[in-house]
Amino acid sequence: MYTNFNSNGNFDGLVRRIQGLGLMRQVQFIKHAPIETVEEGLHASQIHTADSVSSIILKSGDKYFGVIRSNEFIIDMMKLKQILGVTRLGLLSPDELCNRLGFRVGAVGIYHPAIRFYMDESLLDKKSLYAGTGDKCYDIVASSDVIQKISGAKLFNCAIKMKRKSKRILTGDTPSKDGRLHLGHYLGSLKDRVELQKTYDTYILIANLHAYANYYDKSEQINEAAYNVFLDNLAVGIDPDEATIYLESGIPETFELYTFFLTMVKHNRVMRNPSVKEETSYKKLDPSMGFVCYPILQSADILGFDADLVPVGEDQMPVIEQVREIARDFNSAYQLSSGEKVFNVPKGKIGKVARLVGTDGDGKMSKSKGNCIYLSDDEQTVKQQVMSMYTDPNRIRATDPGKVEGNPVFIYHDAFNSNKDEVADLKERYKAGKVGDVEVKEKLFVVINNFLKPIRERRKYYEDRPKETIEILIEGTNRARKVVQEVTARFKEAVNLDGVISKS
Ligand code: TRP
Repeated sequence: MYTNFNSNGNFDGLVRRIQGLGLMRQVQFIKHAPIETVEEGLHASQIHTADSVSSIILKSGDKYFGVIRSNEFIIDMMKLKQILGVTRLGLLSPDELCNRLGFRVGAVGIYHPAIRFYMDESLLDKKSLYAGTGDKCYDIVASSDVIQKISGAKLFNCAIKMKRKSKRILTGDTPSKDGRLHLGHYLGSLKDRVELQKTYDTYILIANLHAYANYYDKSEQINEAAYNVFLDNLAVGIDPDEATIYLESGIPETFELYTFFLTMVKHNRVMRNPSVKEETSYKKLDPSMGFVCYPILQSADILGFDADLVPVGEDQMPVIEQVREIARDFNSAYQLSSGEKVFNVPKGKIGKVARLVGTDGDGKMSKSKGNCIYLSDDEQTVKQQVMSMYTDPNRIRATDPGKVEGNPVFIYHDAFNSNKDEVADLKERYKAGKVGDVEVKEKLFVVINNFLKPIRERRKYYEDRPKETIEILIEGTNRARKVVQEVTARFKEAVNLDGVISKS
């Protein structure tokens, strides 16, 4: 049936492969009118998605990978990257797919002599699966084990049942000082973020405009800090294929919303905001207007983005309250002609983990106190910081019974050491005066250093590829800007902002 066909898209290669394996009798060839997409193919042959596979070709650097998965599932890209041992994994351009690999767009086959294929385990034990051949007019039907043999695929398990990430999450970091993030940031927000990106439509804002409040003349420093914040997010495992990282100043529409919101909020209300008051007093600031109004700029970030959930530290909850107030006040003053609300009223979400004490046991990790362990610290620096950590001040000799509660060394063990038996044992011995500070610290150093190793590796990956890395931020910002542009258009329409010059 296929023999008199002017074949293309590696179809010949596939047929030879099937013949070579002696599997011709186990494979049924189906001919149809040329199709351009998988959906069309399924429709043309009246096949249910559950009984079909789709193959995609991905690449990392100059390596190609083929993935065969069920059409009912999407691939957990983060897990797949782990399995393949690569950091980035992207789709191919149509040009690359056709001209380099000889496939046809929308008709990728399950075999290519130069590509290692992987097949998702959820396909196992299916008696009859529908699959592409690389040719627009042919598909095949075969059992899952025959498909696996033909493709020569290794099995993997990283498919997730198709589920659109629905809720939109927005988190942000102000790039303050040099922008480097520390273990306290990790426990307080980054750790959650890395988890949330799997199930939420996650956006991470590098709030560089916020950084100018009180520091309008420090642009160079702010740019460097913004880059460091960006790198730290990537280093802890924010996956640019899962989540979007973007730059606040790259979205000028934010200024438009901010300016309007400034007209809505009373002076007294601004000055009453507990987040602003506290920060002003503990930083001993003579605050700029931009600083006292930062919750309003933050409102523009969040409302312009239609965010549903905003994970923040507890100290930021009054800011979120301000955001909600602006959204409600605006929505009751202005509606769209469709009756739709202009702004979504978002919810704050407080992170699970409380603040991490500094290495000096004093309050929290804080750059100005020099009591931090940074995610970007090298081994030597971490060792120094850990070995000079404060412990129980009343304990003079290793044989004195020591206090575990409130002891920074044990707080860190609890937070980072996954070997709970070791921690329990150290605590027992510490309380009984049977272990020295040095041993407790040495073990802690190993734990923290191991925790930082993959973070350092990922950081190095991105540092070694500055062009690709900055491209992530540019792309992310473009994607985010589209969302804000839509919301801003809605806002302008509702207010009839340009009413005097527009005709209608
Ligand atoms: N003000 C926040 C902070 O200092 C940072 C921030 C700016 C933010 N814009 C945001 C956080 C939008 C969440 C959403 O932590």
